[in-house]
Amino acid sequence: MTPAELHHLDRQVVGWLDESRKRIRAAMAAPVCVQTKSGRNDLVTNVDKANQRFLVSRITAAYPTARIEGEEGSAAKVSTLAGRVFFVDPIDGTMNFVKQQAYFAVMIGVYEDGQPVYGAILDVMRDEVITGGPQLPLTQNGVPLPLVPDRALADGLLGVNAPMVINNRFNLGQVALASAGPRMTGSAGMEFLAIAQGQQVGYVSYLQPWDVAAGMAFGQAFGLQVTRPDGSPVDLLTPGVVVAAMPRAHAEILARLTSDTFVRR
Ligand code: IPD
Ligand code: CA
Ligand code: CA
Repeated sequence: MTPAELHHLDRQVVGWLDESRKRIRAAMAAPVCVQTKSGRNDLVTNVDKANQRFLVSRITAAYPTARIEGEEGSAAKVSTLAGRVFFVDPIDGTMNFVKQQAYFAVMIGVYEDGQPVYGAILDVMRDEVITGGPQLPLTQNGVPLPLVPDRALADGLLGVNAPMVINNRFNLGQVALASAGPRMTGSAGMEFLAIAQGQQVGYVSYLQPWDVAAGMAFGQAFGLQVTRPDGSPVDLLTPGVVVAAMPRAHAEILARLTSDTFVRR
């Protein structure tokens, strides 16, 4: 994309996220219909589904040839990363949405031939949207964010996935103890926002492509390292364990992680 096309994409996505925020806030005034998916901790609501439909309609109208991988999608899954792909998580942190009415996000990541182009994450209740990419600066509500500090693991808070840390998968319990302190927000989007805002040094979790796409793309604006535990690149066709951290902490985390097989619980 040219710089002008990127700027246009940014304006469009920020507008769609603002509409999403208003729709979600309005929907919260009525009782929410909650269903389980793979298990009792895996929820979807009528609001997730409606926001996915809304975002897909906007993306399709603006970029008819792009493909869309959305969490609550009914369309066929994306099976290659060729061309332009939008990754959409209409509500990230649905458990928080249902139980806390806070700490949930909407995420859109845009990739071309598997390469990150653009990421946007909205904290719905705080009305904060962070955007950026390899060719776009990191901004919050349109204002450039300060440089994200490259702290040592011991000096930064580390976002962690609850089952992984409780079960010490990949030695993550010990890694968390080596940080300034572990944090578990229950929303990948909120974790990426915290890193971009300099509040956390990293995040380790088992993630689906739509959980990581936006953060990995805007992370390119500030040197965020996003890999698998063995240091290999994250491919957006498969779920898996993701280590997202600033460079110093990322190297320390990888050195402390052991090989393991993650079993989702
Ligand atoms: C979940 C959240 C959570 C992460 C899970 C995700 P969802 O997304 O990001 O933090 O640990 O793996 O599935 O289902 O609420 O969109
Ligand atoms: Ca979701
Ligand atoms: Ca999610």
